[in-house]
Amino acid sequence: TLIRREDYTQPSHWIRTVDLSFDLDPAKTLVINKMTVEPNPEQPGAPLRLDGEDINLTRVLVDGEPVSFRVENQQLVLENLPSQAFGLEIRTTCAPEKNTQLSGLYTSSGGFFTQCEALGFRRITYFLDRPDVMATYKVTLKADKVRFPVLLSNGNLVEEGSLDGGKHYAVWEDPHPKPSYLFALVAANLVRREQRVRTRLGHEHLLQIYVRAGDLDKTEHAMNSLIASIAWDEHTYGLSLDLERFMIVAVSDFNMGAMENKGLNIFNTKFVLANPATATDVDFGNVESVVAHEYFHNWTGNRVTCRDWFQLSLKEGLTVFRDQQFSQDMAGSPSARAVKRIEDVRTLRQLQFPEDAGPMAHPVRPDSYLAIDNFYTATVYEKGAELVRMMHTLVGEQGFRAGMKLYFERHDGQAATCDQFAQAIADANPGSELAQRLDAFKRWYSQAGTPRVQAHGEYNAEHRQYTLRLTQTCPATPGQPSKQPFVIPVAMGLVAADGRNLELHLEGEALPRGKNTVLVLSEAEQVFTFVHVPAEPVPSLMRGFSAPVVLETELGDDALFTLLQHDHDPFNRWEAAQKLALRRLLRAVRTTGQTEVDEHFVVALRAVLRHPELDAAFKELVLTLPSEGYVAEHLEVVDPQRIHAARETMKLQLAHALHDDWVWAYEQHADNGGYSPDATSMGRRALANLALGMLCLDGATRHNPVWVGRTLQRFKDATNMTDRFGALAALVNSHAELADQALERFHAQYKDEALVIDKWFSLQAMAPEKDGQVFARIKALMQHPDFTLRTPNRARSLLMALCQSNPAAFHRADAAGYVFWADRVIEIDGINPQLASRLARAMDHWRRLAEPYRSAAQEALKRVAAKTDLSDDVREIITRALQD
Ligand code: ARG
Ligand code: ZN
Repeated sequence: TLIRREDYTQPSHWIRTVDLSFDLDPAKTLVINKMTVEPNPEQPGAPLRLDGEDINLTRVLVDGEPVSFRVENQQLVLENLPSQAFGLEIRTTCAPEKNTQLSGLYTSSGGFFTQCEALGFRRITYFLDRPDVMATYKVTLKADKVRFPVLLSNGNLVEEGSLDGGKHYAVWEDPHPKPSYLFALVAANLVRREQRVRTRLGHEHLLQIYVRAGDLDKTEHAMNSLIASIAWDEHTYGLSLDLERFMIVAVSDFNMGAMENKGLNIFNTKFVLANPATATDVDFGNVESVVAHEYFHNWTGNRVTCRDWFQLSLKEGLTVFRDQQFSQDMAGSPSARAVKRIEDVRTLRQLQFPEDAGPMAHPVRPDSYLAIDNFYTATVYEKGAELVRMMHTLVGEQGFRAGMKLYFERHDGQAATCDQFAQAIADANPGSELAQRLDAFKRWYSQAGTPRVQAHGEYNAEHRQYTLRLTQTCPATPGQPSKQPFVIPVAMGLVAADGRNLELHLEGEALPRGKNTVLVLSEAEQVFTFVHVPAEPVPSLMRGFSAPVVLETELGDDALFTLLQHDHDPFNRWEAAQKLALRRLLRAVRTTGQTEVDEHFVVALRAVLRHPELDAAFKELVLTLPSEGYVAEHLEVVDPQRIHAARETMKLQLAHALHDDWVWAYEQHADNGGYSPDATSMGRRALANLALGMLCLDGATRHNPVWVGRTLQRFKDATNMTDRFGALAALVNSHAELADQALERFHAQYKDEALVIDKWFSLQAMAPEKDGQVFARIKALMQHPDFTLRTPNRARSLLMALCQSNPAAFHRADAAGYVFWADRVIEIDGINPQLASRLARAMDHWRRLAEPYRSAAQEALKRVAAKTDLSDDVREIITRALQD
């Protein structure tokens, strides 16, 4: 049934303490749950309805006495309960080894693990499984000592010992009241890395990372990231670790990235394990940011949690913003910070903008859902982070810290709302742009869709004035036909044709604003007039991507070339190059399908590539063409094959036109010194790998074996995974036949490294499609002995790679891609609905497809919709996709 935000009411009862005991057995685990329950005076006399799913109820006692009860609609209903606090004991059993959904208590590689967010706790015991019910937990774990030597739960270990029959036990107590979704337990055969740290306040803490025996040499980076996160949160926000012990556990079967369970974070191995031999630079960066993200949740999520799941962005948007800030600070130099910002924006545009333009468009604070797991989206996470960033921009760095301080003063220990967060930031900054327009600003939380901003500038030479007219509109989204104006911070500057960034002087203001300022666009249309402007400038707008909008520029190529060359803002320099490339790609797609890269564009890119001062990482971003998905976003009717052809052609032309420059770039950056995951070295490797890929491409057309030989050599000799995988990718993308040997060798070398084998699968699934060969290979790989749909990472490595990341292989005139998609969605839905519904979303954009794709896609969707036993997760996605 559809759940609505406006229907929120307080719970009938509060659960204050929970005493849980587990007798762990993969086939049948016994759970004894003893709670103290208090009627909520706001809801006198209401029955108690406890949620439960896929568990067997064996006993219910109230204050030690059996009572009558009924179970209806996956709820245990108790009536005529005491009007004062009482004890409630519930016994249930469950079957962890049969739990393929990976929600609740499940087994993975022989161990026990839990995932309770959002609704997993009800799959462990009957409970008021909602985040505004917070209790303190005491947990007793019993299990076989040999098979499950490590027994963990939240909080502090208070007791452990041996039991009869080869079993042992451990008792854990978590002093912090928490909602059920933050509960966790682990019972498995694991080893650990540990370290003691002393924080600023002088407290000592024990940090531990638990992994399988072979993975201990992949935990150093995660430990360093955790230590850095702890120091950063203390230093930046004055937020200290509030636990004696903080644990991270790696598990190979996991639906998402990681989970912030209080004191016992559980991670997908992909986001915790990394060493230079098996992980790429991108992996290292992801580990750092996910470790930080989960750690930061300890305050933004756990100390202050969400009142209900509609408030999810309260913790997720804020915590993503915090992990982005952290990663920027770790990157160091201004230019490395800009690189991180560009990467974050690229993610937002690739994942969230399309979401906002499709059937799943929803506000950052959604109004309704069928399956909450479908709303762990780029909108709630990444756009939510942009909302926090805009508040930060509107109140300034110091103002934002003051706002955070007030937020915790008001709400520590509570389950709060997005409104309360925004209110705290505004109240701490009276008179700020945010405080003045708080109600209008909060439309960002309630209105879906990506606003369009149009800018029109006019220069008056006689009065030396420049007027900038900004207008905004926002397309309709499902259920929201028209929108009110958003409050949009427009960070900007003016760049003269000779490259100077001008001093900004707004009409009517006594003081100039320097070379960079923030205009606040809050009406449908506003005019800003700059005075003392010496010559016609090029406006540099939305610097640093100051709001999650599409800027529709009227700038011509010359103006964009000026920005690319001279803008003080690195984000807009990159953006200028993207726009120049995008323009050319769109022209080709709309007309002949053939791109023709012009000399001016080539010269400008060469200047960036050879620039003596720019960082390698930045160069790599500028020289990387917009993705096929991003190009598709700009078209009313999408022909994935035409986009693919246009982009591949352009890549080839740039490979050719810049051949000598790629050689230079490779030779300058390919040195194989010792591996270090710092921003500078990562940038050098990224640029070298891009250059190598381009050289192989160019070699392919000119039958020049020199670079292929050098690439093979690099593949064999590389001392780290980034370089080895880069070389392998260059081969796969250019010389399919030659690549096969390398792929075979790679597989043999890493057959015991699951995360590397995932890469091996997805590299093949993401290869540039030619004559249907990639699609055929993916179907064949489904039969590979290493392939399984039961491990989400492995399933994604092939299926998401095909359906989300390789449009040309997926969208086929013969509809075989869609048939394959529908079959897999149905098949996986029977195993793991959360995973199936992610895959289901690959068809979000079917309506914009050109024929024959559109009709074939619709047919595939209808076939899935016709299944009567779909999960709510998949049903919600498919229904929305088919709704007009
Ligand atoms: N709170 C976790 C994080 O942001 C995500 C957990 C989501 N899990 C789910 N099944 N929806 O790191
Ligand atoms: Zn999170």
